[in-house]
Amino acid sequence: MKYTHKPAKTVNDKIAYTLVKTLRFFADTFFRKRYGNRAIVLETVAAVPGMVGGALQHLYCLRKIKNDHGWIKRLLDEADNERMHLMTFIEIAKPNWFERSVVFCVQAIFVVFYLLMYVISTRTAHRFVGYLEEEAVVSYIHYLAEIDAGHIENCPAPEIAKEYWNLGKDATLRDVVIVVGKDEENHRDVNHHLANEIVSGKGIFTPFSLESVEKSNKCS
Ligand SMILES: [Fe+2]
Ligand SMILES: [Fe+2]
Repeated sequence: MKYTHKPAKTVNDKIAYTLVKTLRFFADTFFRKRYGNRAIVLETVAAVPGMVGGALQHLYCLRKIKNDHGWIKRLLDEADNERMHLMTFIEIAKPNWFERSVVFCVQAIFVVFYLLMYVISTRTAHRFVGYLEEEAVVSYIHYLAEIDAGHIENCPAPEIAKEYWNLGKDATLRDVVIVVGKDEENHRDVNHHLANEIVSGKGIFTPFSLESVEKSNKCS
């Protein structure tokens, strides 16, 4: 795993970065070094953007009769991958009723928040996810360091994780944290790339812009 940071240069980037840093502050204050429980809430939040973005892009493409250039599948795959992260850490951290109720409330608020952000500024929304994933990578690097230092038990990997990532039968929590961290690196790079595509005016689109319908080659 490798931490990288995309410098926030534009106003949109700075807003996205400030929002993520604010969320990070609350996560650090609430969870401190309970990385398993932190992962559960983080993954609950992280599984939302791909589904919201994929659904809105899908509706936009239907409405405007546009090719999505493969982005809808990428976004939905991201949501699916994040859900598997959540399923895995539920097995590892076994959240109590209070943490489950936090997950419930966080999801309710975050779905509305991200939907509005995506409608108002798709570019800011993807940049926001890019920065969120940067912080996810940091969290998993710290999680790994705690396991290596012996502060967190390196327990056997859950079966669901072994199956999903094709891990060996002796795989441990350490192996799981590494593969999850690598997934987060990929999400980070994909979302920063999507935000860049919007800036450059190609590839993905802002679902509520007033672009004209793409010309198609008619057969008749
Ligand atoms: Fe994740
Ligand atoms: Fe992620």
